[in-house]
Amino acid sequence: MAARHERGVIDVSALLSWYAHHGRSHLPWRQTRDPYRIVVSEFMLQQTQVDRVLPLYRAFLDAFPTVGELAAADAADVVRAWRGLGYNSRATRLHALARAVVAQHAGLIPRDRAALLALPGIGPYTAAAIRAFAFDESDAALDTNVRRIVHRVVLGIEFPARASEQGLDAFASASVADQSGHDWNSAMMDLGATICTARAPKCLLCPLHERCVAAPLDAALLAVLAKKYAKKSAQSALPFERTNRFVRGRIIDRLRDLPKSQMISLAQLQHDLADIVARDRLSEIPAIVNALVSDGLVSASERGIALKTNDDTHHVFIKNPFLFRD
Ligand code: ADE
Repeated sequence: MAARHERGVIDVSALLSWYAHHGRSHLPWRQTRDPYRIVVSEFMLQQTQVDRVLPLYRAFLDAFPTVGELAAADAADVVRAWRGLGYNSRATRLHALARAVVAQHAGLIPRDRAALLALPGIGPYTAAAIRAFAFDESDAALDTNVRRIVHRVVLGIEFPARASEQGLDAFASASVADQSGHDWNSAMMDLGATICTARAPKCLLCPLHERCVAAPLDAALLAVLAKKYAKKSAQSALPFERTNRFVRGRIIDRLRDLPKSQMISLAQLQHDLADIVARDRLSEIPAIVNALVSDGLVSASERGIALKTNDDTHHVFIKNPFLFRD
């Protein structure tokens, strides 16, 4: 009978039994169904590796144990608690989300997809992740890694791409059984992180390989993947120290270190970063500060610059050996 070995199908029972034996169910955000704790983990995991998130996740939840406490916190304290995670505007977006949940939903993160999507900072991926991880709804939360697995299993290796993101999402959603949203998504994420990796998938260890169109990848196909992904990373190979993100991070670090209520002049900021930021990028600091102001992380006035707080009028401008320039 063809059905048992038909390829192009995500074998959900093999996936879930692999997860039961090999999955990372010990991760703290997998040991809770508290929607707030799950939202915090999803914001942190968006752009930061699991190992790095772990200690900072616990510390953040100690500082802000509930959505209400986060909503009531000072914006600058939330950015301070984000130290070490990078991509600081996530802290500001998470804070805005907590405030909206308190204002619009009496502090309860909703289960309904449309209600989630109407909240600030929540797109289709995060809405699906909250529904699956907190409420065990059968949503598929597809990030790049999970889309790669779906492409391989259903259509073959991802070069050339044979389906749009929406097409892959549809294949994935059809495969999530009722009541298995939490484990289906956890399993796919773990598979993407450990087995069905971009460059060197370990097909023979994969629970999906019998019914996967791409598997088993032979040496020639592995070489194709290695080459394609090497090319992709070379394209984005601007040294990190030269990126805007690096400069943004150093500006926020400097402002986090200021005593509360203290501001710094733009010239002082440039001076303080002179040994850290590449010389030819120092002149871009004012424009980057402006972008941080637009993102709601920083407040700037003729009196100086600081992390944005809930009440910026408290700031005292002390350090000013240089003239502040706009
Ligand atoms: N578990 C739940 N969400 C996750 C994520 N975004 N990345 C890794 N593991 C997760």
